[in-house]
Amino acid sequence: MNELINNRREELELPSPLKDTVNAADWFNRRRNEILALYETILYGRIPPRPESIRIELTCETPNVFDGLGLRREITLHFRNGPATHAAKALWYLPNNRKKNIPVIVGLNFKGNAGCTNEPDLPLEEEEERGVQAYRWQIPMLLDAGYSLITAPRNHFYPDHIDGRKDSVFALFHSRGELTQDARQYTAISAWAWGYSRLLELAMTEERINERQIWAHGHSRLGKTALWCAANDLRFAGTVSNDSGCCGAALFRDKIGEQIDFMVKNLSWWSPKALDDYANRENALPFDQHWLAALIAPRPLLIASATEDLWADPFNEFRCAKAAGEVYRLFGAEGLGSAIFPEPEQPIYGDRVGYYLRTGKHDVTETDWKFVLEFIRRSC
Ligand code: GCU
Repeated sequence: MNELINNRREELELPSPLKDTVNAADWFNRRRNEILALYETILYGRIPPRPESIRIELTCETPNVFDGLGLRREITLHFRNGPATHAAKALWYLPNNRKKNIPVIVGLNFKGNAGCTNEPDLPLEEEEERGVQAYRWQIPMLLDAGYSLITAPRNHFYPDHIDGRKDSVFALFHSRGELTQDARQYTAISAWAWGYSRLLELAMTEERINERQIWAHGHSRLGKTALWCAANDLRFAGTVSNDSGCCGAALFRDKIGEQIDFMVKNLSWWSPKALDDYANRENALPFDQHWLAALIAPRPLLIASATEDLWADPFNEFRCAKAAGEVYRLFGAEGLGSAIFPEPEQPIYGDRVGYYLRTGKHDVTETDWKFVLEFIRRSC
């Protein structure tokens, strides 16, 4: 624990997101938009619009997967904007034990759809390794708890490398010329956030689901994305941001582990060029990440950390969750309240804001899902 806190104090001087906000309505109608604009410019770029058309192709439906716990759909989403087209493959599970009001978890994945499950009958795409990250999704556990899950590979929205932009969903809206060289404003994180919104819309086509219970879930770079997408897309009921670290749920100020300098040098396609100005100048940022967390308010927000994940900085993820309370209080919710940095496996299920520390490395495990499902259950 000492290593995690690293001699830092719980209280930290931070810029206030409220500025001259007078009440919740003023926050929601004015101040929130100012902050979104700042984040667009400096940290994440702009999320592309909805394309002119989306066609949902159900390529396969398998009833009774996982010994009858659920139904599985393989889907291809075909996007069209003017002459430009793009496709993404989604994997969708629905529980058999709930007939209506089904809550939905939406989350992009790292290793392809077949990497999320050990089911032998799911076709393997190129480069996929079956079930390699099945433990990260715990699909039978989610189905048994009555949840639906929709996932898709992040690379189908923006291939995660420095030349990925031209093959990303931005190509629906911009020419190849516009997407090369000085095109840092078209970021991977915003393309992935766009993907989350398209999966939410896919969920909404099913009448058995609860439209007011569609959650954005993401780990690490996708934990940053889950925050950014739900900050923009108010149709998401809430957000679970797991081990999201730098440019995610960890405060920039007084941070250990990853810093802006590393990110803009090594992962430049994730952020606009404007962020380069803040490398080694974190204190000069007009905001800190509790502002981003506050953009989820008054919807529920769960921030999760792991004890060995010093690169992400669990203590700063906690301090961020706590500082977001300033805005949740405008809505009459306490947030984390006066909670102190918890011991591992001692989740704080606060008032609309939750935080926990899991023992172990940077990952998503069965223990994470237990805490996540409990937080969602309490929030519904
Ligand atoms: C790298 C990166 C992090 C990111 C992580 C991940 O470690 O520096 O910012 O969160 O990858 O996505 O796994």
